[in-house]
Amino acid sequence: MTIKKALILAGGRGTRLRPITHTIPKQVIPIANRPILHYVLEQLGSVGIKEIAIVVSPDNQKQIKHYVELHHWNLKLEYIEQKAPQGLAHAVIVSREFLKDDSFLMYLGDNLSGGRLEGILSTFESAKADATLMLKEVDNPQQFGIAEIGTDGEIKRLIEKPTNPASNLAIIGIYCFSSRIHQAASRIAPSNRGELEITDAIQYLLESGGIVNSERLDSWWFDCGTKDDLLQANETILAQLSMQHIRGSISEDSKVEGLVDVGKGTVITNSEIVGPAKIGKNCVITNSFIGPATSIGSKCKINDSRIIRTIIMDNGIIDSVAQVENSVIGKNCRIFSSRKSVDKKQFMIGDDAEILL
Ligand code: G1P
Repeated sequence: MTIKKALILAGGRGTRLRPITHTIPKQVIPIANRPILHYVLEQLGSVGIKEIAIVVSPDNQKQIKHYVELHHWNLKLEYIEQKAPQGLAHAVIVSREFLKDDSFLMYLGDNLSGGRLEGILSTFESAKADATLMLKEVDNPQQFGIAEIGTDGEIKRLIEKPTNPASNLAIIGIYCFSSRIHQAASRIAPSNRGELEITDAIQYLLESGGIVNSERLDSWWFDCGTKDDLLQANETILAQLSMQHIRGSISEDSKVEGLVDVGKGTVITNSEIVGPAKIGKNCVITNSFIGPATSIGSKCKINDSRIIRTIIMDNGIIDSVAQVENSVIGKNCRIFSSRKSVDKKQFMIGDDAEILL
């Protein structure tokens, strides 16, 4: 029996990414100029999973839908409202009608991973498992669901955000489940943070005789919860650009080096662009340096500035700022300097901000 359905969870509030998430749900923040959810949908489609429900919150559903539908997907998509962020197991409970008794893949909508899904699907199917988890070693196990593994590689115990972790194997946000997860989700109590944890539901499955196994992820993974995660994910995805692709116009006094993608209608004058970098459509870049690991959205204007390892969303204006680095800048932001500034600046600012330095 192959998995044909997926549940993408996008109901969380994204509090650690404020102020960006005051106006844009974290699951659709652009990474290399594409909403995070586009990568997830593409990965699911690539393994033939076409029936997909996205769990949204009352606050973010309009925007999630808008960003998802910027692209035409050859998928059967639906949206399920989770009225309050009561946990990942609660999201499974509210999706029962969509899931019926079918096995499904669950993907947390703020997770990005370079791994392919074939591995977890075949581990789940060949063992006729009730839950298959994807695990990855992390440096900060206190911040994740953690798996304790026995000498034969079997899962001994699962624990959500342990204070004294017995292992550094994090449960990343990609899981496969049989219909037994529904009973487990209905049996657990809320955790200390007041949520029905999927980790607790899987631990319940384990204790009640379910088959729970795992798959190690041997590729990169980000759970896009902080500014650093976003910048690291952006850098990683940009580094996978396969070639230089220039659709805009570059003046003769400009220099473009390495993996650089420039959108249609963008005009670059007297500037240097060093890849990996992506610049959207209809931007105007003058007298500037756009450095590695930078993504600039569409309709941005950059003048007399250096931008390094930064995400700038659509309609941004940066003028006369000596160096912007390690920054995430929301849509329609304007950052100016009245006199040419000299020092490096870092920003984490939400949509429509205006800063005069
Ligand atoms: C959730 C899960 C946790 C998992 C993590 C992966 O944590 O509860 O078990 O390791 O996602 O991203 P949260 O993002 O809700 O803190």
